[in-house]
Amino acid sequence: MATPLRRDGRDAHPDRDHPAYRSTALRHPKQPLVPLHDPETELARPFLGAGPVAPLDHDLTAQHDGPPLGERIVVTGRVLDGNGTPLAGQLVEVWQANASGRYAQAEDRHDAPLDPNFTGVGRCLTDAAGVYRFVTVKPGPYPWRNHDKAWRPSHIHFSLFGTAFASRLITQMYFPGDPLLPYDPVMQSVNPGARERMVASFDLEATVDQWATGYRWDIVLRGPGAALFEEGEG
Ligand SMILES: [Fe+2]
Repeated sequence: MATPLRRDGRDAHPDRDHPAYRSTALRHPKQPLVPLHDPETELARPFLGAGPVAPLDHDLTAQHDGPPLGERIVVTGRVLDGNGTPLAGQLVEVWQANASGRYAQAEDRHDAPLDPNFTGVGRCLTDAAGVYRFVTVKPGPYPWRNHDKAWRPSHIHFSLFGTAFASRLITQMYFPGDPLLPYDPVMQSVNPGARERMVASFDLEATVDQWATGYRWDIVLRGPGAALFEEGEG
């Protein structure tokens, strides 16, 4: 039997409508939410297994004929449930801009060069210790027209599925010491006490000599995903 959906941790999440981050006005319902009466069905399908993930999907620098431009980095960490238990076999997906701050998608009109050797999308499964690991290049900041002189700090988008679409979590990872963080309405929409959870740490252990700098960022899942995993339904 599925655990009822819980909406804990709301105090740490940004308000759905954050006036300084203008497009949030378009992203939340205007009517009261309709509760799901059959969460078991919603949480059980579709199941995303290990099959489609290819061995090099975690390496965003190895998807084309040559290496992409930019600062090669390793981004790694653990996926944990609300009790700090590592979660194995979790699908982790990332997408990001290239080193110049431009996404490969046609919709991105930022006047910065595309990189024919960088698509900016990757995925992997956590190992038995709940560890994910990506090889990529550090994304550049980019302008986004939200307000005057609006530049997004360097960031990597993360998606975690748990065992079902209904437990999907999407978040962003930032880099330590980025001078744009205090000016970013996306980051600032999160309560002050929770902002640091979105910033990775430089990590010497993850750094590879003569090859790449390393960043560590642990991801703690809460709410529906964590409750489901604790009952061993994954
Ligand atoms: Fe982005």
